[in-house]
Amino acid sequence: MLTPTGELVERARRAGVGVPAFNVITIEHAEAIVTGAEAAGLPVILQVSENAVRFHHGRLAPIAAATRAVASAAAVDVALHLDHVEDVHLVEQAAECGFDSVMVDHSRLPYQDNVAATTAAVARCHGQGLWVESELGEVGGKEGAHAPGVRTDPAEAARVVAATGVDALAVAVGSSHAMTDRTARLDHALIAALRDAAPVPLVLHGSSGVPDDELRAAVAAGMVKINIGTALNTAFTGAVRATLAAALDVVDPRKYLAPARDAMAETVQTLTTLLARR
Ligand code: G3H
Ligand code: ZN
Repeated sequence: MLTPTGELVERARRAGVGVPAFNVITIEHAEAIVTGAEAAGLPVILQVSENAVRFHHGRLAPIAAATRAVASAAAVDVALHLDHVEDVHLVEQAAECGFDSVMVDHSRLPYQDNVAATTAAVARCHGQGLWVESELGEVGGKEGAHAPGVRTDPAEAARVVAATGVDALAVAVGSSHAMTDRTARLDHALIAALRDAAPVPLVLHGSSGVPDDELRAAVAAGMVKINIGTALNTAFTGAVRATLAAALDVVDPRKYLAPARDAMAETVQTLTTLLARR
């Protein structure tokens, strides 16, 4: 059932658990995420990033419609989120395309410009009933390079939340985007300090590179929304490789997409269950 992002995040925060936000690139991702969440019997957030929209020839509407249709039929609570949006024109399409929340990502800008652009975006989004996440202290790896040394300052986090009115804050605590091994080490003391300083739920990006015990410790320290993308693609692509290697005569894409979708669903079930454990 479609459920507002803010409600799923608030429920998770109150329960002291994490709610996963999985990245959707294709309809198979959406189907796998819902199947995995249903198997776990737990809520989940489906998020489409600006990068994924670029892959779909710059058009948000088709992948949004497919994702929304899959989510609407889910037997568990599912929220729809637009992720890592730098293009203001995309933010403008979020509500009409059925999203309930947006991450406005101006983290590449200098601090003052980030605050100004985010404040303007929050005012526009709140006017449309959208829940807004923003990022402070850029989490590295968006262009493939890891930046594990970047950290968000708690005092600055408190100032940004007060100045912009955001509903959730993505912070840099040691994770990095697009890691294919799970070797990231997080700064748990910093997570707790950020939780105490910022009066909004915290979001962990680049969670695919974070091992299970570190993820659980991060949630215990105060992380709430846990963004996961690459782990699904690792499972998906691994299954495609295995299927094609075992059957060189395969031409029907369903023959390799079906096991790949199953592999993604298993990963979703495992991670969703892990994050819900206290
Ligand atoms: O916003 C999306 C996430 O931060 C995904 O990061 O692909 O490294 O798991 P990841
Ligand atoms: Zn991210």
